[in-house]
Amino acid sequence: MVDSPYNLLAVYYDRLFEPTRAPMGRIRRQLLADIMKRAGSACDLACGTGTTAVELARRGMRVHAVDASPQMCRLARQKAREAAVRVRVLHADMRSFRLPEAVDLVTCEFDALNHVPRKSDLNRVARSVARALRPGGWFFFDVNNQPAFQKVWPGTWWHERPGLVMVMHGGYDRRRQKGWTIAEWFIRKGKSWQRTSERVEEVAWTPGEMRQSLRRAGFRTIRHWDEAPFVRGEWPISPGFRSIYLAQKAR
Ligand SMILES: C[S@@+](CC[C@H](N)C(=O)[O-])C[C@H]1O[C@@H](n2cnc3c(N)ncnc32)[C@H](O)[C@@H]1O
Repeated sequence: MVDSPYNLLAVYYDRLFEPTRAPMGRIRRQLLADIMKRAGSACDLACGTGTTAVELARRGMRVHAVDASPQMCRLARQKAREAAVRVRVLHADMRSFRLPEAVDLVTCEFDALNHVPRKSDLNRVARSVARALRPGGWFFFDVNNQPAFQKVWPGTWWHERPGLVMVMHGGYDRRRQKGWTIAEWFIRKGKSWQRTSERVEEVAWTPGEMRQSLRRAGFRTIRHWDEAPFVRGEWPISPGFRSIYLAQKAR
């Protein structure tokens, strides 16, 4: 099991990132409109705090949710409880997870797939997702691309909320083809501030590498879109920075 860095990042995730990840829900509803009408079951992979899993469950689907961070799993269970929907949350690694049933749809949103430790792990994730899907089932996900790591990640990002400051700064390691960011936390504890940090790394793949892994794992129809036109200026994203993929497992 991978040692997920999402601990404090999990606790403050919704407060800090909800505005940035919000377009993903709209994009999913738009691109998967027909698929979701027919899908009876789904798995949200690297589910984070459970926002997508809860939304799918609200549509009446049988939903599984997988995440490697115990903190994220706890928050996803809590969100499902509060929404009064059933989501079966599994603490597992996206490279090796196994579901108790084959599902119609696997989603893996907000560049969660990029979080695997090695480039070669893409093959393992693709195989595990193919195993989790019924024949003809769909895999929907989005990824950060190399230009985003090179141009955006070396910047500094400041997030401030009452009693909380988080500064992200990072870079791109060309040799390992990995973006990295360090989240420095300043959290108010009474009259003083506590400082702590978490490091997140993400792997970059080319569209060619992505297609090859998906094909090897048994996916046949593979479509991909640039994410920039879908985001409609809600946050700064240039063409080529992020891609959305939809792949269908062979029947
Ligand atoms: C950027 S967050 C995305 C969360 C969620 N999909 C969303 O849309 O908000 C990345 C998530 O991937 C999870 N993660 C990282 N590595 C993982 C792995 N190997 N297997 C499963 N989950 C993993 C993290 O714990 C975190 O919840």
